[in-house]
Amino acid sequence: MRVLVTGGMGYIGSHTCVQMIEAGMTPIIVDNLYNSKETVLARIEKLTGVRPAFFEGDIRDRAFLDNVLAQANVESVLHFAGLKAVGESVEKPLEYYDNNVHGTLVLVEAMRAAGINSLIFSSSATVYGEPETVPITEDFPTSATNPYGRSKLMVEECLADIQKALPEMSITLLRYFNPVGSHQSGEMGEDPQGIPNNLMPFISQVAVGRREYLSVFGNDYSTVDGTGVRDYIHVVDLADGHLAALNSKGKEAGLHIYNLGTGNGFSVLQMVAAFSKAAGVEVAYQLAPRRAGDIAECWADPSKARAELHWEATRTIEDMTADTWRWQSNNPNGYPDV
Ligand code: NAD
Ligand code: WQD
Repeated sequence: MRVLVTGGMGYIGSHTCVQMIEAGMTPIIVDNLYNSKETVLARIEKLTGVRPAFFEGDIRDRAFLDNVLAQANVESVLHFAGLKAVGESVEKPLEYYDNNVHGTLVLVEAMRAAGINSLIFSSSATVYGEPETVPITEDFPTSATNPYGRSKLMVEECLADIQKALPEMSITLLRYFNPVGSHQSGEMGEDPQGIPNNLMPFISQVAVGRREYLSVFGNDYSTVDGTGVRDYIHVVDLADGHLAALNSKGKEAGLHIYNLGTGNGFSVLQMVAAFSKAAGVEVAYQLAPRRAGDIAECWADPSKARAELHWEATRTIEDMTADTWRWQSNNPNGYPDV
C-alpha cells in the first residue's frame, strides 16, 4: 500500500513510517521541516533498510501537492502535518488556523483532484475540552479552550461536513491522548526545539542534564497525589494504531472516530518516579502553581478502537520511560543537523 504521509518527518509521523515500512507499506513523505530535521530520513533508513521518498514543501501550497500526488500514486493519506504547541497557539492564532485548518482544506482539495478518497487525520483528546467524567468515550461532547484545540475541532467539523457531502470518502479522526516514548532502538524519538512544552521531554532533558529541574504544575488537583493525571501512550503503539486504521476503516467509506489511548492514567509524580527508575537518575523537581488551561485528569476509554480497529496499546509505562531514556541518553541534543 502506497500512502502519503504529511508531517512524516515529525515525532509521530516518523515512527509511523518505520512501522509502515516494516509492515511492507510504502510511505511517501511531505514535510516543510518547520519542526523537524532531514536527518530523520537516515534514521528511518538505518532501522528499516529503506529510505522513504521525501518531498520538502508546504501542505498549503496546492501546486506543490498536485505535483507530489501526480508522482506518488497513493491510495491513502495520513495527515500529521500541523502546529501543536498550545501556549504558542494563544500568541499566534493566525498561524495555527492557517497551518492546521487552511492546510487541511488545501490537502483535501488536492486529494479530490487526484482521485484519492481515504484520509486519516491526527486529532487530539484536546477536543474533549474539560471532560465531566473519565474515562472518555468518543461520544463525549467536544469543545476547545485554546486556538490549537479549536483548530483541531474545526478540522474535525470541516471533515465531517466534507464526508457528508462526499459519501464515497473515508475519513478517520484519530484522537490521540498523550504520546510519549521513542523507538526501542534509541535511534528515533521526540526532539522538541527550544523549551519542551510537554512533560515527558522535559523530564528526560532534566535527567540528561540539559535542564536543572522540572516544575510540577499544581499539586492540589483532586487526583491520586494532587498532580495532573494523563493517559500516556507509547508512540510506537500509536503508530501501529494508524496501520490498523489504514487496513480497516481507511478502506471503508464513512466518517470514523477513535480514541487512541491506553485507558490508564498516571500522575506527574508517578511519571517522574517511573522515569527516575528507568534511567537510574534522580529527576529533580519543584512544585509550581497550576498551568493555565490544564485539567485535573484525562484518560481514554479505548474499547471502540479495540473492537473495530482490532488494535490496542501493549507497551507499559516502563517501556515508555526506558525507550525515552535510551533515545535521550544516546542523543542528548536530539537529531544532528546534518
Ligand atoms: P511534530 O511537530 O513533531 O510533527 C509535525 C510535522 O509537520 C513536522 O515535521 C513539521 O515540520 C511538519 N509541518 C508542520 N506544518 C507543516 C506544513 N504546513 N506543511 C508541511 N509540513 C508541516 O508533531 P507530532 O507530535 O508528530 O504531531 C503530529 C500530529 O499529531 C499533529 O497534527 C499534532 O497536532 C497531532 N497530535 C500530537 C500530539 C502530541 O502530543 N505530540 C497529541 C495529539 C495530536
Ligand atoms: C501533562 C501533565 C501538566 C509540563 C498537551 C496538549 C494536548 C496534546 C498533548 C496535542 C499535565 C504536567 C507538564 C511540565 C508539568 N497535544 N506538566 N510540568 O497538557 O495533557 O496535553 O499535549 O494535541 O492537546 O494540551 O500534556 O505533557 O503538557 O502535560 O507538571 O513542565 O504534566 O500540568 O498535568 P497535556 P503535557
